[in-house]
Amino acid sequence: MQKRWAFSTFFIMVFGVVAIVVAGVNLGAERFSIDGGKRGAVAFPHHMHQEALTDCASCHDLFPKSAGVIQEMKTSGSLKKKQVMNSKCISCHKRLKKANEASGPVKCGQCHTRT
Ligand code: HEC
Ligand code: HEC
Ligand code: HEC
Repeated sequence: MQKRWAFSTFFIMVFGVVAIVVAGVNLGAERFSIDGGKRGAVAFPHHMHQEALTDCASCHDLFPKSAGVIQEMKTSGSLKKKQVMNSKCISCHKRLKKANEASGPVKCGQCHTRT
């Protein structure tokens, strides 16, 4: 009996921690403007992607969850120019389009404001 209590208490504690972590996740801004160099800024709906993809790592395995980090990493050389655009944005949109799933833009002017 005592063992059972210890067991349930343990699970209640674990669920409590999980609930706090989930509720406390910083989802970041709803949308961003990403610097697109001479081609012009790129409007990025962040929360729409979080809802469609659910897995944060589908982007944040390449760069951390921090505002302005893509630009910083490009400046420091740890990300190449257009690396996020090609290896993340466009490759995912193309792959989903091919699979006939909901997807995003693949043409320059659909993302960049300066066409
Ligand atoms: C489709 C790509 C993508 C996905 C998926 C994604 N993010 Fe982001 N996230 C970005 C981009 C782009 C930035 C901006 C980076 C920059 O400014 O250089 C960013 C920035 C952030 C930031 C910092 C900016 C701010 O407003 O505080 C947080 C926090 C963040 N993301 C959390 C998350 C979480 C949590 C998830 C998963 C639920 C997630 N992101 C999923 C692309 C994504
Ligand atoms: C799905 C959206 C998307 C599409 C489509 C897209 N881009 Fe981009 N582009 C971005 C993002 C996001 C960045 C900034 C991150 C990076 O450099 O990887 C960027 C960056 C750039 C840069 C700046 C690189 C630098 O740092 O100097 C140029 C130039 C560029 N894109 C040209 C193009 C051209 C040309 C096309 C069409 C063939 C195109 N882009 C299509 C999203 C897009
Ligand atoms: C792993 C897959 C994936 C990655 C990575 C990704 N996207 Fe998307 N994107 C999607 C999906 C899925 C949708 C369609 C969402 C929907 O219709 O609910 C979408 C839609 C969009 C749209 C259209 C929004 C609208 O109003 O219709 C834009 C703009 C966009 N993405 C930009 C970007 C940019 C810029 C990046 C890179 C920083 C990026 N995406 C990275 C999957 C991705």
